Amino acid sequence: MVFNTKKTQIERLDPDNIPNHVAIIMDGNGRWAKRRHLPRIAGHKKGMDTVKTITIAASKLGVKVLTLYAFSTENWKRPTDEVNYLMSLPTTFFSNFVPDLIKNNVSVKVMGYVDQLPPATQKAVRDAVEQTKDCTGMVLNFALNYGSRAEITTAVKEIAQEVATGNLAATEINDQTIDQHLMTNFLGDLADPDVLIRSSGEERISNFLLWQIAYSELIFTDTYWPDFTAELFANLIIEYQGRHRRFGGLDPDKKE
Ligand code: FPP
Repeated sequence: MVFNTKKTQIERLDPDNIPNHVAIIMDGNGRWAKRRHLPRIAGHKKGMDTVKTITIAASKLGVKVLTLYAFSTENWKRPTDEVNYLMSLPTTFFSNFVPDLIKNNVSVKVMGYVDQLPPATQKAVRDAVEQTKDCTGMVLNFALNYGSRAEITTAVKEIAQEVATGNLAATEINDQTIDQHLMTNFLGDLADPDVLIRSSGEERISNFLLWQIAYSELIFTDTYWPDFTAELFANLIIEYQGRHRRFGGLDPDKKE
């Protein structure tokens, strides 16, 4: 009898080293569509389906927080039709995906300048947050109208205000003070991603979580976001597991 000894991707994963927080810059929707002679919004539609696939895959692997860059503070510069389509996606997404999220014990959170989104988009995301609030598994954290420089600027203003009113001494400001004023504060110990993934071959951070990725592993893959699969995601987690995180120190076995 011939046994198949080839391990599946899932079997190759180290269950004791699953990243707690995975952040993804979902790039390449437009190029995916262009390659197929389709309008850019067709890429975003397929990209939305990929969000569903990767959310379930990440949750099944035991990821605790999945932060997805869905719309940046700079994306308003795109043509109105494209912006309008992107703004309609949360309504489409949550209208049929919330039951699956609940079944998988996934709660939805939103990070960004939500008040500036169209009212229908705000309602869609706020309803999803409310409907999934009792889920205790993975947090699916959408960065929507998010920009890291704006986030840091807001934090600096709030801290300056506390100093001005005498509630905080300038000499007391430290890393934790900054953490507490960032939009990821609600994630507590999990605020900083263990790994940041960007699809589509671009190797940039594009104003995403600039403070929080200080010690994140960075993984860039050529695959366009709409082509992402659960298997590719598992492969990237295996790549992460091959990295040696030192946080500025030395490997434990190289300290002598
Ligand atoms: C970047 O690709 C992608 C975006 C700006 C939008 C990402 C949005 C989704 C994947 C869907 C989000 C789903 C929900 C539920 C909110 P690009 O358009 O810049 O691609 P390109 O660089 O190839 O042009």
